[in-house]
Amino acid sequence: MKKLIDVLKEIMETGFEKAGYDKKYGFVSVSNRPDLCQYQCNGAMAAAKEYKKAPIQIANDVVEVLKEDAAFASIEAVNPGFINIVVSGELLVKQAVAMMTEDKFGVESQGEPKSVVIDYGGPNVAKPLHVGHLRSAVIGESVKRIHRFMGDNIVGDAHLGDWGLQIGLVITELKKRQPDLPYFDENFEGEYPKEPPFTISDLEEIYPYASGYSKEHEDYLLEAQEATAKLQDGVRGHRALWEHILNVSIADLKKNYDKLNVEFDLWKKESDVQPLIPDMVEKMKEDGLAYISEGALVVDVTEESDKKELPPCLIVKSNGATLYATTDLATIVEREEMFQPDEIIYLADKRQSMHFTQVFRVAKKAKLTKEDTKLTFIGFGTMNGKDGKPFKTRDGGVLRLQTLCEDTNEEVYKKMMENREYEEAEAREIAEKVGLAAIKYGDLSNQASKDYIFDLDRFTSFEGNTGPYIMYTIVRIKSLLTKYQQAGGTVVATGEPDKLLAPANESETGLYLTLSKFADMMENAYNEKAPHKICQFIYELSESFNHFYHDNQILGNEDEARKASYIQLLVLVKNVLEQCIDLLGLSAPDRM
Ligand code: ARG
Repeated sequence: MKKLIDVLKEIMETGFEKAGYDKKYGFVSVSNRPDLCQYQCNGAMAAAKEYKKAPIQIANDVVEVLKEDAAFASIEAVNPGFINIVVSGELLVKQAVAMMTEDKFGVESQGEPKSVVIDYGGPNVAKPLHVGHLRSAVIGESVKRIHRFMGDNIVGDAHLGDWGLQIGLVITELKKRQPDLPYFDENFEGEYPKEPPFTISDLEEIYPYASGYSKEHEDYLLEAQEATAKLQDGVRGHRALWEHILNVSIADLKKNYDKLNVEFDLWKKESDVQPLIPDMVEKMKEDGLAYISEGALVVDVTEESDKKELPPCLIVKSNGATLYATTDLATIVEREEMFQPDEIIYLADKRQSMHFTQVFRVAKKAKLTKEDTKLTFIGFGTMNGKDGKPFKTRDGGVLRLQTLCEDTNEEVYKKMMENREYEEAEAREIAEKVGLAAIKYGDLSNQASKDYIFDLDRFTSFEGNTGPYIMYTIVRIKSLLTKYQQAGGTVVATGEPDKLLAPANESETGLYLTLSKFADMMENAYNEKAPHKICQFIYELSESFNHFYHDNQILGNEDEARKASYIQLLVLVKNVLEQCIDLLGLSAPDRM
């Protein structure tokens, strides 16, 4: 469907033309004085120079031509030359009908579908998920869903960190605790046990312990580094242990991501691309891109326009070890082979921005991608505690994601119980959905690059710009529709567009108007990869709806045609809200 703003623009263009002016002046924007009008056209001011006339004169000429147009409830020229527009109820209904009948509420795809890979989550095996991994998962999942909604073929990859020191640390600590395991016996030739010698709870305790210990004991750290090197060189026992670590961790990660409503299409690992490194590096050398500097192999990445000097990208260290960047480059090689993507999107803490700049530049110089493949880094800010410092547990430790979720669900549960009675099991189930909304919405409603403060009390509030408030609005609509059905009315899931009537008052008009902004908002959210635009929109839509709800008799309305029209409006608002929260990776309960 044509977006409302484009419909208006076309009419204004014809208006300028008919009045004898160039149609390029018929541009329209959302009004910055919503108390006066909904949209405005400032073209007369721009045209004044070309036609050497007072802007108000031009505005008057255009309004004269357009004042009978059915698109407007009113169109008015005001000093010094603005054209104020109020859209007619008929046009608003027409837009709502199109949203109800067209696929994706009338949102049109932006050009050809693109092939996109999104690299998000980025958990490290053997380490429990902590709050630092929350933002990557939550924002990445939403960006993925937005692309998918707009028609792209997008593949989400968890890109597990499974090749670093953390594995060496776990192996070292295991050896200390259970030296008799066959994995450490170099002469062992039999089959290793199928069962892992640890559980996930063991792992969760072992890693932080080993990591802490290594910081105070250098020989222990050296041993862990050696164990990592042995793993990377393919020592059999180390590989077998690593596989156990992977299996145990991945099973647990899947469970945790599942709880967050985050789904990866691929569970690739840093280790998967190690075999691609030698050829890639060889080619960089042959092409004269990579050269030896202080014993290490590096690639220059500076560009003339750089304001700050960028150090060369380290590809191979002097001791022969490859690095984080090397793995990311080899992963680009693999993704190119698998998907020939038009774009690869990465989510990571914004403090990794230099790493990604280096990697992207090397990838382009070494022609690892198609020439026009876009490499995009979405760097997110830190989630802070109320003290403005990175979120920590009470005793200063790293907060586990699971704990954060449990605490949030508990707070929502408490708030629910203050208001009414529930069956225990039902209450817990609802609290889980609403708790997730509190966390995700609290995160996503901020621009990704900004730091934000996790405020449990505010995030779980049922009022204000929060996840629970949005959930509550959806539940309210669902319950109105249920009551309508219980009283004998029928509700068609996608709505009955022919029953919609032109809005009869201010709050109803407001609701139609907010709905009509959906397509425009979606295009922006997509082009800017900005889930917070969806949050802004659903907050506005929820506010519009609640205003409408308080101002109008819905189920009790005696005018049957009006009531039927309200029901259609409710259905559309609910469907749009549910679509939006799905794009945020959320779903609403039926009751709360
Ligand atoms: N595993 C990394 C970390 O925990 C994040 C990975 C981000 N993605 C990437 N392709 N480098 O910091």
